[in-house]
Amino acid sequence: MITQLLPLLSLATTIVASAPQSPIPELTALDAPTSKQLLDLHRNLVEIESITHNEQSVGDWLATYLHKELNYTVEKQHITKDRFNLLAYGTKRSTSILVSSHIDTVPPYWPYYYNETSGIIGGRGSVDAKGSVAAQIVAVQGLRKHLFDDISLLFVVGEEQGGDGMRNFSSWVKRPDPYDIVIFGEPTEAKLVCGHKGMLGFALRATGKAAHSGYPWLGASANDILVEALGALLELREHLPWSHKYGNTTMNFGRIQGGVAANVVAETASANIATRLAAGTPDVVKGLIIGALKDVQAHAQQQGGDLDIEWLSDGYAPVDIDCKIEGFDTLTVNYGTDVPLLSGGHRRYLYGPGSIFVAHSDHEALKREELEQAVLDYRRLIVKASEVKQKEDEIAQMEL
Ligand SMILES: *[C@@H]1O[C@H](CO)[C@@H](O)[C@H](O)[C@H]1NC(C)=O
Ligand SMILES: *[C@@H]1O[C@H](CO)[C@@H](O)[C@H](O)[C@H]1NC(C)=O
Ligand SMILES: *[C@@H]1O[C@H](CO)[C@@H](O)[C@H](O)[C@H]1NC(C)=O
Ligand SMILES: *[C@@H]1O[C@H](CO)[C@@H](O)[C@H](O)[C@H]1NC(C)=O
Ligand SMILES: [Zn+2]
Repeated sequence: MITQLLPLLSLATTIVASAPQSPIPELTALDAPTSKQLLDLHRNLVEIESITHNEQSVGDWLATYLHKELNYTVEKQHITKDRFNLLAYGTKRSTSILVSSHIDTVPPYWPYYYNETSGIIGGRGSVDAKGSVAAQIVAVQGLRKHLFDDISLLFVVGEEQGGDGMRNFSSWVKRPDPYDIVIFGEPTEAKLVCGHKGMLGFALRATGKAAHSGYPWLGASANDILVEALGALLELREHLPWSHKYGNTTMNFGRIQGGVAANVVAETASANIATRLAAGTPDVVKGLIIGALKDVQAHAQQQGGDLDIEWLSDGYAPVDIDCKIEGFDTLTVNYGTDVPLLSGGHRRYLYGPGSIFVAHSDHEALKREELEQAVLDYRRLIVKASEVKQKEDEIAQMEL
């Protein structure tokens, strides 16, 4: 498909012997107008608050920008009355390449700032993921000038809270034909991510029977049950699957609640827990968790209480991602992304400016140079990924 659609790329192709010579020049720096476009676009995006569920304003602004300023055809895929994904494309709707990121952010909102002396640009979303969004748009725009127009842009909502935007795009009846290559943008410190850990979220709900704390035997303490359950999980935590690629599976007791007062035997208690899988599947880890809590559950029931496990979603196994592109450093990460939520047999890459370590913090920021480098890197990534794909397709063709 790419061979037909990217005629410029295929002109100088000689199979196997040498890499195709791309007619698209590699840039080493952005010119002044492009740099200004990048900074202005990034500022506009960050200045509009877009905490998950409140993405409408930034979506409207971006749709207008892509259509009016950059001449894209823009479709809004509504997933609720006032929340929508944006799909933007040029001459045709089904393209070989999709470039995607998310426009929602975590709370709270932090205003935009740019310190020209230090070159530091901050504010909520400046890194995660409006840095990626702005750099992707400018990079793709640069390629379109070279008639490299077989690319769509997809900006989704809801990534920070379960990925309802990408899930809806993936199952959309009007979804364009499958893509060959999809490039995702998240803060990766300008490296290509070779994969990320899997995820399994769950809640424990302990129920007991209230009583005066002077006569605890008249009740059953939900707090005691929960503490016992967490003790069992602390022990399990040391024996979860691990891998050389992703390290240890981790389990975070993120939120614990229980009881009403010191002098009352607690009637309810709960804990919200996130497990990041370094190996195995959600089903395997579910089995281990159920096994570890079996005795606690039986003990709770003997006392007239109970312990329930509520799985927050199906979860997913570790996600391997393509990362063999010459000239990029690589890494693996421990955070979840929309990458596994887009179905299809496409090659997928994950790259973005800025560091995840500041992404959800009150000091979220990156340097102007990082943003500019990301434009150059996205451009190079798109061209190289197309070349790799094309070359492998041609080899496959010859072998047939
Ligand atoms: C805008 O895009 C359309 C195709 O989608 C193209 O036909 C038209 O020439 C473009 N206009 C400009 C000013 O680039
Ligand atoms: C901007 O950065 C410079 C150099 O790091 C620093 O001295 C200055 O205080 C910063 N300005 C503001 C307003 O934070
Ligand atoms: C689409 O998004 C809506 C709104 O969040 C959600 O209720 C629904 O489950 C999503 N659909 C899919 C297929 O994920
Ligand atoms: C994984 O866990 C083991 C045992 O708890 C520990 O010794 C090791 O340092 C951990 N590895 C990493 C990469 O954290
Ligand atoms: Zn993100």
